[in-house]
Amino acid sequence: MASFACLLVPLLYVTTVLSLAPALCYVNPGANPGQDAEENSEYRTHIVLVWPPADAHAADEVAHRRWHESFLPSSLTEFGEPRLVHSYTEAFSGFAARLTDAELHEVSKKPGFLRAFPDRTQQLMTTHTPEYLGLRQGPGFWRDVARYGKGIVVGLLDVGIYGAHPSFGDNAVAPPPSRWKGSCQGSASRCNKKLVGVKSFVGDDGRDDFGHGTHTSSTAVGNFINGASRNGMAYGTASGIAPGAHVAMYKVCTGKGCQDSAVLAGMDAAIKDGVDVISISIGGNMTFQFDHDPIAIGAFSSVSKGILVVCAAGNNGPKLASVVNDAPWLVTVAASSVDRSFLADVQLGKGVSVAGEAINQVTNSSSKTYPLLYSEERRNCIYHGEESKVAGKIVICDAVDNLLPYNTSEKSILREIKSAGAAGVVLINTNADGYTTVLWDYGSDVVQVTAADGINIKKYEMSSQTNSTSAVTFSHKTVLGVRPSPTVASFSSRGPSTITPGVLKPDILAPGLNILAAYPPQTLLGTGPFNVLSGTSMSTPHISGVAALVKSVHPDWSPAAIKSAIMTTSDTVDKNGGPILDEQHRKANAYATGAGHVNPARATDPGLVYDLGATDYASYICALMGEAALAVIVRNSSLSCAKLPKTAEAQLNYPTIKVPLQPTPFTVSRTVTNVGPAASTYTVKVDAPTSLTVLVSPGTLVFAKAREKKTFNVTVSGHGADVLEGSLLWVSGQHVVRSPIVAVARHG
Ligand SMILES: *[C@@H]1O[C@H](CO)[C@@H](O)[C@H](O)[C@H]1NC(C)=O
Ligand SMILES: *[C@@H]1O[C@H](CO)[C@@H](O)[C@H](O)[C@H]1NC(C)=O
Ligand SMILES: *[C@@H]1O[C@H](CO)[C@@H](O)[C@H](O)[C@H]1NC(C)=O
Ligand SMILES: *[C@@H]1O[C@H](CO)[C@@H](O)[C@H](O)[C@H]1NC(C)=O
Ligand SMILES: *[C@@H]1O[C@H](CO)[C@@H](O)[C@H](O)[C@H]1NC(C)=O
Ligand SMILES: *[C@@H]1O[C@H](CO)[C@@H](O)[C@H](O)[C@H]1NC(C)=O
Repeated sequence: MASFACLLVPLLYVTTVLSLAPALCYVNPGANPGQDAEENSEYRTHIVLVWPPADAHAADEVAHRRWHESFLPSSLTEFGEPRLVHSYTEAFSGFAARLTDAELHEVSKKPGFLRAFPDRTQQLMTTHTPEYLGLRQGPGFWRDVARYGKGIVVGLLDVGIYGAHPSFGDNAVAPPPSRWKGSCQGSASRCNKKLVGVKSFVGDDGRDDFGHGTHTSSTAVGNFINGASRNGMAYGTASGIAPGAHVAMYKVCTGKGCQDSAVLAGMDAAIKDGVDVISISIGGNMTFQFDHDPIAIGAFSSVSKGILVVCAAGNNGPKLASVVNDAPWLVTVAASSVDRSFLADVQLGKGVSVAGEAINQVTNSSSKTYPLLYSEERRNCIYHGEESKVAGKIVICDAVDNLLPYNTSEKSILREIKSAGAAGVVLINTNADGYTTVLWDYGSDVVQVTAADGINIKKYEMSSQTNSTSAVTFSHKTVLGVRPSPTVASFSSRGPSTITPGVLKPDILAPGLNILAAYPPQTLLGTGPFNVLSGTSMSTPHISGVAALVKSVHPDWSPAAIKSAIMTTSDTVDKNGGPILDEQHRKANAYATGAGHVNPARATDPGLVYDLGATDYASYICALMGEAALAVIVRNSSLSCAKLPKTAEAQLNYPTIKVPLQPTPFTVSRTVTNVGPAASTYTVKVDAPTSLTVLVSPGTLVFAKAREKKTFNVTVSGHGADVLEGSLLWVSGQHVVRSPIVAVARHG
């Protein structure tokens, strides 16, 4: 049931796809009362959704708790542990409790009961990225328009925070907004004007034993730190995307992952405290119907209350249909490479060299040459019993899985051959990872290379069987300006959504490969003060930071408007002006990139937005899932599917367009809201392949007022392929509002 898709867990479970640094996770916190009893008894934690108490608006927390307790057979289990684990009031109407299956059956018969969910376990899935994204210190957009995200609180659900890190210093940060109600719990967390809240839902003080939460928090809102680097690499000024914003940590994960019941408790507290943006670098390896997914349900509550929820798309790429956190009310974030390389050359004699990368460049390999060793039979470098073969050689290894360096695979294997006397290791990406080199600290004298470079190195080794020599040179150099960039990272989960295939997911692409950000001094997985991690866990807080910038400029915008602004202003070309490529350096499709690569400076001024409110989502839920799902997700007794229009997926007022590819014209309708100059005129422009016909009516939108809305139709027909992609652009003198159009044949 649990799926470890992401990061943290590597220590305990090797599985994780994301071990990269992926998306967080959640699992048994170990802090809940009765954890041990759980193993030995039939008690389990169940998440129970109920109608709100009769006088919900008037009810305080005590009244909610009393209502929730009224569903339970007794307040204690037969082992004397409290049954009620969490009582939710904001993110969810209901509670988490220890119940046997028989007891749950009784609970389900009580009036007010809606649904019960098993408590699943999910997984957690820089100096340079602000500048890479066009954000520069000093006069200009970042400081003067977006005010570095001033006045905005970003709440992260993660594995804790190392609050003493200088990234969370409050130099030049304003006090939190007066509506802020959060606080710091526990002794390890020092609050100040930057770090304004720490709460743990796993029974400790909120500290970060793994580094993931410190890394994600600093990526979103870390303050400026001069001279940040990792062992001298990636030297520069570190900061988050919204260095003027505040951070609140809700610790909902441990080394075992993240339990749904704790994630909901964190979301509940974040809403009560008054966060503006919730950032969730957590995910499973599979997605659930939204009315069977407590996180999607909790996020709906957040969004209804005006809080944007940003989530990792998952680290299960490049497999199609691997995206998670795919409800349309969430922002689903994919991961890209940046233009930075941690260069380490492999010299192949006679001046031929291959540019690899290494994160651990503590020692300088000499220019001394060593023979290369590659063995087809031992391509993964398991030399058990024949360790003597590797002594004094540079050993070439094919990676087993770039994303799983802990436990089994690479890490311990490489340690073995190095302790057998290997002079160095060249580790070649899997073919599936292609040009995506996820850097791991394998120790010194290990160089990682792309699959393509690996082929050349092997050829060289074979062509000079008797005497191939090479040297590994660590150039101690961080190279900027690497092209092509951005590219989609191999691990980044791909669409289509299996739950809502008519809505394009993921939504947006942001940096997530080899990201340098703050790290605790010492953890089980690495050391600070800065560390390099990869995953959609890392791309997610970039978007949370951008959302903080947009919200700081436009505090009254809805979550959907902020999301639309980020999506319609994104880049579809890379730094060379060509199409964004994927991990194989092929043109990336919309299932990999979503709307495109985030462009923060444009996101605060989109011109037009595609807005959506709770009622619009309710109409969509009615069409996709029906009345029962509406009751579970929306829980508003004044809304019923009988009274609501039914909004088919394609007709949801989403900033991207997904339609069937068929010769018969298919029409979708969209409504844009003018958030630019009051008097504005937009004309339509369509980019599409010739086999895709896109007609837009009307072709001109004339606005006279701010906030004015205009509706238009897009009619699409086509043939001759499984998938065709185009773009719809509304163009005025000052703005280009772009939506990808993805047309998919029914069988495709
Ligand atoms: C998710 O992970 C679990 C446990 O690691 C595994 O059993 C399951 O098959 C995975 N599901 C998918 C869809 O990959
Ligand atoms: C590696 O080389 C650099 C540049 O030549 C030098 O500054 C540094 O001290 C060397 N490091 C070690 C561990 O020898
Ligand atoms: C992971 O490590 C543990 C402990 O060393 C070991 O028992 C387990 O077999 C390893 N898992 C895999 C898949 O190798
Ligand atoms: C192998 O190559 C090195 C460097 O090119 C050379 O010095 C050495 O003599 C060669 N050895 C043999 C056996 O060819
Ligand atoms: C329920 O829906 C109605 C109609 O859209 C809306 O006016 C009301 O605010 C909603 N109630 C809550 C608690 O969201
Ligand atoms: C859009 O299409 C609908 C139904 O096809 C039609 O009723 C409506 O008039 C059209 N609107 C515009 C602006 O063309």
